[in-house]
Amino acid sequence: VGPKPLAGQRVLITAGGTVERIDPVRYITNDSSGKMGFAIAEAARDQGADVTLVCGRTDAAAPGGVKVVKAESAAEMHDEVMKRLPETDIVFKAAAVADYRPLRKSEHKMKKTSAELSLELVRNPDILQAIGEWKEAGGGGPFVVGFAAETTELEKHALDKLQRKKCDLIVANDVAAEGAGFGLETNIVSVYGARGFAEHLPRMTKRAVAERLLNIVRELKEGMEKR
Ligand code: PMT
Repeated sequence: VGPKPLAGQRVLITAGGTVERIDPVRYITNDSSGKMGFAIAEAARDQGADVTLVCGRTDAAAPGGVKVVKAESAAEMHDEVMKRLPETDIVFKAAAVADYRPLRKSEHKMKKTSAELSLELVRNPDILQAIGEWKEAGGGGPFVVGFAAETTELEKHALDKLQRKKCDLIVANDVAAEGAGFGLETNIVSVYGARGFAEHLPRMTKRAVAERLLNIVRELKEGMEKR
């Protein structure tokens, strides 16, 4: 047997949902279970990669044989991802990152004092976009795979994110389709590349999606390196 296909490749994967604290016992999060990111981590590990998993809130335990870094909020995830980019060859951004966080975090548990309560939110850093900008500024070249969770006009929104967030590949996820998206064992995705690559995958286990994504990345990366 020859070397495993991803031997020597350093793969960084984000998984799960970020947690944006309101007070010490309350927070804003989303339905991401971490399964999609975990499946990529397991598949990459089995193909011989050196895997780092940056995890937000997840439903299950992270797989063994990979380095696990905890990151609660989008801001923490941003810092944990950015500092590892110089030693990363491939990035998968499967985490569901909150776009907004509470402007103020209360130090103590908030009291019920009024009939109505408004929560003021501010924008979070966009990690995927920050990676694209870091690459453009000459930071080097991890191959970057973004995800796009959409409920309408899948292709249009995914292609817009591919361009705006400057990724090499975007995995468009119709999270409203039966058998796809948050929490499930299966997913249905379409994959679009910056140089016109497009592939629509049928409903598959997240592990099978992960295997196909890794193969696509290897093929596209090899093509880029041959140029
Ligand atoms: O974890 P599971 O239960 O298995 O579910 C899997 C999944 C549905 C969460 C996953 O397949 C998926 O689609 N992940 C991306 C979810 C998401 O945040 O999509 P988005 O369209 O809002 O964001 C687009 C991309 O930008 C994503 O790669 C996201 O990680 C990234 N992003 C978004 C906001 C932000 N502030 N920073 C980011 O990096």
